[in-house]
Amino acid sequence: MNILSPSMLAADFGCLKAQLDLIEKNDIKWLHVDVMDGMFVPSISFGMPVISSIRKISGLFFDTHLMVTEPGRYINDFKKAGSDLLTVHVEACKDTAETLKEIKASGMKAGVTLNPETDVKEILPYIGLADLVLVMSVHPGFGGQKFIPGSLDKAVTIKKEIEKVNPSCRLEMDGGINLNNLKEVLLSGVDTIVAGTAVFGGDITENIKAFKKIM
Ligand code: DX5
Ligand code: ZN
Repeated sequence: MNILSPSMLAADFGCLKAQLDLIEKNDIKWLHVDVMDGMFVPSISFGMPVISSIRKISGLFFDTHLMVTEPGRYINDFKKAGSDLLTVHVEACKDTAETLKEIKASGMKAGVTLNPETDVKEILPYIGLADLVLVMSVHPGFGGQKFIPGSLDKAVTIKKEIEKVNPSCRLEMDGGINLNNLKEVLLSGVDTIVAGTAVFGGDITENIKAFKKIM
C-alpha cells in the first residue's frame, strides 16, 4: 500500500492544529516531521517540544526525519516526545548500524537516508536493519526545492536490494515531489511519498485528493 506523508515543514504553524486535523480528515495517516539542527543542514526547524505538543492533539504516525549531526544522542528524547519512526542520515551517524539498532530497541521504527550527492552504495549495507529507506530527492535543509532527477535511478537500485534482503522495508522519497512527477516516482519503486509544498500550498483537501487519484 502506498502512503502519502505530508511534510509539516510546509504547514502554517499559526494554525497547525487545524491543518493537522484537516489532513487526518482527508484520510492521511502519516506526518513527515523534519528536524534540522543548523549543523548537519544550514537551517533550524523545530525539535522535541513541538513534537510533544502535536503528539497530544494528533493521531498521525510521526515519520520523523532527523537532519541532525550524531542523531544517536537524541533517540530517547524523540521516543518520549512521541515520534513513531526516526530516520537518520548515513552521513550524520558515528555508527549507522548501531544507531538503527538503538532506535528499534527504543520501540520506534528505524529509517535510514542519504543525501543526493552520497553514493547509493553507502546505504545498501543497512537495508537489512531498517524499516524504511528514504531517498532524498533534494539537498536537505529547505522545502520548496526542485526535484533532482538522478534520484529515480537510486530508488530503482535500492528497491532491488530491498526485495532481496528485506522485502517489508518501505522505500520513501522526499523533496520536490508534485503532481507532475509523482507517477515517475512511484514507477521507480517508491511506496512512501513525502510532499510539503504540494500538499500544504493552496487548497489542502484538493491537493490530497489529486495525489490520491494518482497513488
Ligand atoms: C527537505 C525536507 C523535506 C521538505 C519537502 O530538507 O526534508 O521533507 O520539507 O518539501 P517539498 O515537498 O516542498 O520539497
Ligand atoms: Zn524530510
